Amino acid sequence: MLSSNLRLSYFMVVVCVTCIIIFYQLQISKLYDEIQNLELLQRKANAALAVKTKEVSNSEDSLVVIYNRVPKTGSTSFVGVAYDLCKRNRFHVLHINVTANNHVLSLQNQFKFVENITRWDGMKPALYHGHFAFLDFSRFGAKKPLFINIIRKPLDRLVSYYYFLRYGDNFRPYLVRRKHGNTMTFDECVRNDLSDCDPNNMWLQVPFFCGHSANCWKPGNKWALTEAKKNLVNNYFLVGVTEELDDFINMLELSLPRMFKGAMDHYLNSNKSHLRQTVQKDTPSDETIKKIQKTVVWQMENELYEFALEQFHFFKKQTLADKPQKFIYEKIRPK
Ligand SMILES: *[C@@H]1O[C@H](CO)[C@@H](O)[C@H](O)[C@H]1NC(C)=O
Ligand SMILES: *[C@@H]1O[C@H](CO)[C@@H](O)[C@H](O)[C@H]1NC(C)=O
Ligand SMILES: *[C@@H]1O[C@H](CO)[C@@H](O)[C@H](O)[C@H]1NC(C)=O
Repeated sequence: MLSSNLRLSYFMVVVCVTCIIIFYQLQISKLYDEIQNLELLQRKANAALAVKTKEVSNSEDSLVVIYNRVPKTGSTSFVGVAYDLCKRNRFHVLHINVTANNHVLSLQNQFKFVENITRWDGMKPALYHGHFAFLDFSRFGAKKPLFINIIRKPLDRLVSYYYFLRYGDNFRPYLVRRKHGNTMTFDECVRNDLSDCDPNNMWLQVPFFCGHSANCWKPGNKWALTEAKKNLVNNYFLVGVTEELDDFINMLELSLPRMFKGAMDHYLNSNKSHLRQTVQKDTPSDETIKKIQKTVVWQMENELYEFALEQFHFFKKQTLADKPQKFIYEKIRPK
């Protein structure tokens, strides 16, 4: 009897313990499932966050800026600043050397150039600079880079180029220039209608902004001027003027800090702002100026300059304002 009772209670205890074990096993497995679910959610959230940060850094780190610099506009000073900053700000600067100083690229070169720049991720962010006309990337189905440029009063540019060929500059004083030894002044040249000071030589800023069409390169072509203005506002991120280079650099620093952070400070405190001045430069006489200003080419080049200047001042007013403009998002729906 006793033994049977003992056996029963023993059995009861075993059943109870088994039940308890099963109960806790179930609880544990439930908890385990929950933990796994939470881990899955966490992983998903992390992945989403990673994609988001990648998007953000991608847009800045895939920046491509093209500066199709017009000769004798102060471009060397500006590019010098970029070369000094590129290591510190972690971007690349590349010079595009077009054979024989040709400002227009062949069709196969245009295609190669667009393909290469668009896909060369290892070089991004990058600033490309070179003496060539504007190129519309969208014609090749590629993403448009940010074009920038600097423009100068057309007669000043011509005079600067004229003396540059004769006397060189303080940037590479040892280099013997094409017209070295020729001491004729610009005034004398204009008085004698010589080819070196031919007003058609001023036809350079219009075609640089106009691009790769045949009409762009015909001095005095009206369509070219219209096209140049259109490109200037629609396809250029920013166009500065030689006479206000410091403001141009300041605006680039504020709008593209990924590349130009510290540029203004560097420009003012290094000797870059005095770099590359053509050695000898006589200011042209009133007579010369009057004669040049009568030409259609000067008038059209000057119209583009004035147009660019107005646009530059318009941007400058908002960008360099005492109280910088800001925009915020609000009234975001649905909540
Ligand atoms: C461009 O390349 C040519 C040929 O390699 C070279 O002679 C010339 O100096 C280069 N131009 C510049 C501005 O570096
Ligand atoms: C772009 O061109 C350079 C020089 O020719 C070459 O080294 C580079 O691999 C090219 N990049 C792409 C993405 O084609
Ligand atoms: C400009 O500064 C650099 C060092 O910052 C110096 O090596 C160079 O001689 C200076 N050039 C002139 C023209 O002062």
